[in-house]
Amino acid sequence: MQSITLPAIDVPDHVTQTPLGKVIVPGVRIPERMVVIDPALIQDLIEKARNASDLGYNNYSVKFPVGAAVVMADDPEGQIFTAANCENAVLNSGICAERALLHYVVAQGFRRIKYLAVSTPHRDKDITLRSPCGLCRQTIAEFADEKTLIFLDRQQQGVLADVLDIDRLLPYPAIRKIVARL
Ligand code: THU
Repeated sequence: MQSITLPAIDVPDHVTQTPLGKVIVPGVRIPERMVVIDPALIQDLIEKARNASDLGYNNYSVKFPVGAAVVMADDPEGQIFTAANCENAVLNSGICAERALLHYVVAQGFRRIKYLAVSTPHRDKDITLRSPCGLCRQTIAEFADEKTLIFLDRQQQGVLADVLDIDRLLPYPAIRKIVARL
């Protein structure tokens, strides 16, 4: 176990007066916080997410594999579940790895994410950032609480993972709840 600090994000509101009234760009205020992480469990999750990405069905995105692995806070056995993206000839029928995974895990009776790891091993130099899509962020938020951590595997030498909590992953959820519904 190890403590790490998630940095504060403090972007003030920006208000501009227009002839019709004010236009407000809402800021974000997220305080710094310390969280305890388990590096061995994270490494295990990332390895399992990478392995899961090999099993994805991704012919239509010119093979953009994504794997995800999760351990649920309300699972006394601490099982690790995995899934991958699954595409379709009818393009928008496909599903991302994170939602495929969470939909399955919720159907096993679990409701609260402890750690979620996502791995995108595709090596395209033009892609500068990979992180969960908006639909997946909202789905993760539904089953996240303040202790949930999301690890993004960049497959970079010497870097275990990028880490975010739910406030940093999705500062503006469609609806914010205090805790996932049990
Ligand atoms: N994809 C995911 O699996 N997760 C995300 O959060 C982003 C995108 C998948 C969907 C599609 O199969 C491929 O990556 C390209 O978008």
